[in-house]
Amino acid sequence: MTRDILAEQRDYYAARASEYDDWWFRRGRYDNGEEANARWAADVREVEEGLVEFDPRGDVLELAAGTGLWTRHLARSGRRVVAVDASAETLAVNRGRVDVGSVDYVVADLFDWEPAEQFDVCFFGFWLSHVPQARFDAFWGLVRRALRPDGRVFLVDSYAGDVAHTGEPLGGELERRRVADGREFTIVKRRWEPDALAARVAPLGFRLELAKSGHGHFLYGGGA
Ligand SMILES: C[S@@+](CC[C@H](N)C(=O)[O-])C[C@H]1O[C@@H](n2cnc3c(N)ncnc32)[C@H](O)[C@@H]1O
Repeated sequence: MTRDILAEQRDYYAARASEYDDWWFRRGRYDNGEEANARWAADVREVEEGLVEFDPRGDVLELAAGTGLWTRHLARSGRRVVAVDASAETLAVNRGRVDVGSVDYVVADLFDWEPAEQFDVCFFGFWLSHVPQARFDAFWGLVRRALRPDGRVFLVDSYAGDVAHTGEPLGGELERRRVADGREFTIVKRRWEPDALAARVAPLGFRLELAKSGHGHFLYGGGA
């Protein structure tokens, strides 16, 4: 069951590759009007500033890198970025956006991938919410193995109370999503409260300082 949903989730993002950025830039069906868009933009700025403060230097691993909305920032501060994603379609958009030689792209399924080296920083944006409960601990094990002993993590994701949902909740950890041509997909979507997530990963050996963005769209932060 989980395996089928994870395959559907991959297919969804491949199908959505060319329209994904409309969500981030609040265009088309994600345009919620001037005031709501301004609140969203303020939250985006807050997280981007948080990432600058975190200072992701050295060798950076980006998991589920997508269309490069974060890769472009990581490529500025990191010596090198390895950007992994299951969708060649989204990585093609990423390559077109970022276009620097210090980024290496890897097409791989994160539920079936092992890092061949260790990194100073591991970053994942809007990925953890797509990791089902059954794979949660294993995912953090992957993060640990990917990091040098003094390595650090930074993440950003949907805040639990965010009302700007892009899909229809199906109950449990599943959500129904539709792409512009009408095709529908079921995916995993688990929104977290900062304290609950920090407490959940503490026994896995991660001390994260997480916050909710000012207008409540995002959860973000980092640690080691
Ligand atoms: C919500 S998007 C986030 C993209 C990017 N991190 C961002 O914040 O804009 C989720 C990404 O996860 C990728 N993805 C989905 N399933 C995956 C899997 N099993 N392994 C690796 N990447 C996967 C999708 O292709 C998509 O690019």
